[in-house]
Amino acid sequence: MSIVDKLKWRYATKKFDTNKKLSPPQLDQLLEAIQLSPSSIGLQHYKVLVIENPEVRAKLREAAYGQPQITDASQLIIFAAEANMDEAYGKNFISLVADIRGVERESLAGLEGMVLGTINSRTPEQLLLWAQKQAYIALGVLVASAADLGIDATPMEGFDPAKFDEILGLKEKGLTATVIAAVGFRADDDQYSKLVKVRRPKTELFIHI
Ligand SMILES: Cc1cc2nc3c(=O)[nH]c(=O)nc-3n(C[C@H](O)[C@H](O)[C@H](O)COP(=O)(O)O)c2cc1C
Repeated sequence: MSIVDKLKWRYATKKFDTNKKLSPPQLDQLLEAIQLSPSSIGLQHYKVLVIENPEVRAKLREAAYGQPQITDASQLIIFAAEANMDEAYGKNFISLVADIRGVERESLAGLEGMVLGTINSRTPEQLLLWAQKQAYIALGVLVASAADLGIDATPMEGFDPAKFDEILGLKEKGLTATVIAAVGFRADDDQYSKLVKVRRPKTELFIHI
């Protein structure tokens, strides 16, 4: 199947088969795809929580308008944006680049100036919005990668972020729940899997200049 065929196969799963779980290698591959997601300057302005604990998921479901995917999917993935990006965050990133590429930190002075300049020129609200946009890019990579791997995924923003933050203790970690995805395998009787995809026609969606 081409990637386009796989994107036609995927859909926002409403009913998961509660007996089917991702194998450890499948979960690993999916998480590695998320890890490889691009982000602005490569800062990866978020953390990704993988939730399996049934009690925690029951609480999260209540904070997500009772949506069943929260408890019934194999795993719940939470993209939590960095809520307090600061100079220290930028400097840590530069240290990581130096370590991984095996270069002197000093040789990265130009990059460091750019990273810190970008962070310092933005208000806390702008920094949070910036971080949240990156989380959505990672969500997109997850959705497409899951389809490629034959795994079902539901991207979701129907939840109360403040309640999620409280249940998961995210504020203390300097994070805030931004967008989530339930991953697993569709139930045979999920009627949504049979619906014809609704997408605006290419002539309306694309503007060629
Ligand atoms: C950011 C985002 C948030 C979404 N939130 C929810 C949600 O809370 N619950 C849900 O069942 N579907 C949710 N969806 C799924 C969309 O409704 C679905 O992707 C869209 O209708 C297109 O259908 P398809 O993905 O099945 O092709 C969300 C999708 C995205 C991208």
